[in-house]
Amino acid sequence: MTPVRIGIAGLGTVGGGLLEMMAAGGPLAGAVSLSGICARDRARKRAVDVSAVPWFDDPVALATAPDVDVFVELMGGADGPAKAAVEAALRAGKAVVSANKALLAEHGEALAHLARESGAQLRWEAAVAGGIPAVKVLREGLAANRVQAVAGVLNGTCNYILTEMDRTGRAFAEVLADAQQLGYAEADPTLDVSGADAGHKLALLAAVAFTGTPDFGGVALEGIAAVEPVDLETARFLGYRVKLVARAARTGAGITQSVRPTLLPADHPIARIDGPLNAVVIDAEPVGRLVLTGRGAGAGPTASAVAADLMDLAFGDVRPVFAGPADLMADPAATATAVAVPSRFYVRLRVADRPGVIAAITDLVARHGISIESFLQRPPEPGATSVPIILTTKPCPEAELRAAIAELAGTDVLLGTPLVMPVESA
Ligand code: HSE
Repeated sequence: MTPVRIGIAGLGTVGGGLLEMMAAGGPLAGAVSLSGICARDRARKRAVDVSAVPWFDDPVALATAPDVDVFVELMGGADGPAKAAVEAALRAGKAVVSANKALLAEHGEALAHLARESGAQLRWEAAVAGGIPAVKVLREGLAANRVQAVAGVLNGTCNYILTEMDRTGRAFAEVLADAQQLGYAEADPTLDVSGADAGHKLALLAAVAFTGTPDFGGVALEGIAAVEPVDLETARFLGYRVKLVARAARTGAGITQSVRPTLLPADHPIARIDGPLNAVVIDAEPVGRLVLTGRGAGAGPTASAVAADLMDLAFGDVRPVFAGPADLMADPAATATAVAVPSRFYVRLRVADRPGVIAAITDLVARHGISIESFLQRPPEPGATSVPIILTTKPCPEAELRAAIAELAGTDVLLGTPLVMPVESA
């Protein structure tokens, strides 16, 4: 192995974790030598003494420095300095290792072109699910498989919030504040709770599994802000758990990608992943089902993924930026709309508490050809003028269900905004 000369831009949680791994003197220390660093605040006190390492104020200058073979981008952000520096490195023919999911999901195709033109390697294991080597498993371990679906819990913040709401009955906003204090959330937590962070990661996994390039715009995104303790409690009563599920699947109509709160049977492998953990479930032929779980964020796990990419480069490994399973290029996958695929659904309505309301709802649902699987009215919440009605459906097109709900919204029966979540089987 020839050690590679690296320049690290970004010395926050992940960059600091990487410096600590190098200082610990394990295999990584023999695989890399540090040529330069760049961060926002030169004066900041760090766990590892970097005073002897050449300092760069400009990440582009670091990315193109003659004694840098691999530019390690740990700054974050889809645009701005991170993008400029990664582009400069690739143009200069230098390998790039990045943990930047937003950059790769939103500009991955253009960056892959740049890498191809200059023959540079672009690696991004750390961008998805922190310490879980999901990209390696898909791109290398399953290189000759046909992937049917990739699903996962890809945002630790949302998983922590849903787990805590379920455990304590506390409301979303209150638990979000805890997650921020614990340091799980992104600098802008709307990226987490809106599903966008999980969407970035899903688009990247789907690129390797199916499509060859990330299509973040094609991910149907729905966050967790509308989920209430009553939903978690009722799901549990029905034998399910609610998770923010990121899922890309091969369907008759093409590849679907979605991130949305979803009911999973209590014995589903993802249903048992609690707190800030991540999980990735891959269904592929001929391997069958693989379940990977672990820590999806934090200094150690994310630095572990960056280090794995650096070790690969030191060993001279060469891989495509996104494409994985061998049939990908020969069989380009069309994308399809996730909502067009029939599913079972959970619906929570808040309705007026008066005679005839249940009859009106069941009549309406029947007129739309939707068959009800279970139906229950929860007791009115303290001080509320409405009652929650929860129903689950047999498989139906979501558009039909939404049309029925829209009709109900035109009456004085419906109070508040309904919540619709898909219900998955094992
Ligand atoms: N905010 C992310 C999460 C961190 O909660 O999973 C890692 O991408």
